[in-house]
Amino acid sequence: MNENLGIKEILDWYITAGVDEICGEVPFALAEPEQEVRKPLPVAAVAARPAESSARPATTELAQATISACQSARELCMKAETLADLKALVEGFDGCALKLTANKTVFGYGSENARLLLIGEAPGADEDRSGVPFVGRSGHLLEKMLKAIGFDRDDCFITNVLPWRPPGNRTPTEGEIAVCLPFLKRQIDLVSPEAIMILGGSAANALLDNGEPISKMRGKWLEYKKTDGNKVPVLASFHPAYLLRNSGQKAKAWVDMLRMKQKLSNN
Ligand code: URA
Repeated sequence: MNENLGIKEILDWYITAGVDEICGEVPFALAEPEQEVRKPLPVAAVAARPAESSARPATTELAQATISACQSARELCMKAETLADLKALVEGFDGCALKLTANKTVFGYGSENARLLLIGEAPGADEDRSGVPFVGRSGHLLEKMLKAIGFDRDDCFITNVLPWRPPGNRTPTEGEIAVCLPFLKRQIDLVSPEAIMILGGSAANALLDNGEPISKMRGKWLEYKKTDGNKVPVLASFHPAYLLRNSGQKAKAWVDMLRMKQKLSNN
């Protein structure tokens, strides 16, 4: 950049370059954008390949560093006997580059004995500031929806696929999801809820390891198999941020909430 530029020109230059938020004192280089947008692969299949695998696609689709980060995330999870242990381990984990740009680690929040566990995609700006999931506009809508079926957010356990905010809320990469997925799965094991509600297609694709659009998944009972082999009923629904932009879809989300209420009152 030209050293003779004034502050205004420098800020204009940043804005033109797409920088809309300050997340550190010192600028750092952004990665080159992907040349082509590819449909995400089922992440668990790629991440589950052992690091020493000679299968070519594993090394090309997911960098070796990511594979070993997945492995160490899985190993760390096995050491966590409680949510407090796991939270401390996630906070100390350095295998995901998102942590470098995030302000806080946003671990799941709520009751250790929750009957209902809810999963979003990733923290936004408000959550990154506070360290608590779903506290911004989406969180307020979610709270209202839960209240409508007689649940307080503190009775539930609310978490995200990623514990760190992707810069500028960009879509998480396959690698970031693969590295963080063991942390989500361990939270599910430790809470052992009666039912799971997944908010939005990308969180559902990550946990259920499929590429289905949310429009096809929502409204049906699905299943998630915990590490102990026991199955938990899962309902995928629209993400509250999507509902804020598309209020015409709120009726369907309401039907999903009622379906969840019915499931929990039958148990
Ligand atoms: N959106 C999410 O998916 N998670 C949050 O915690 C906040 C907004």
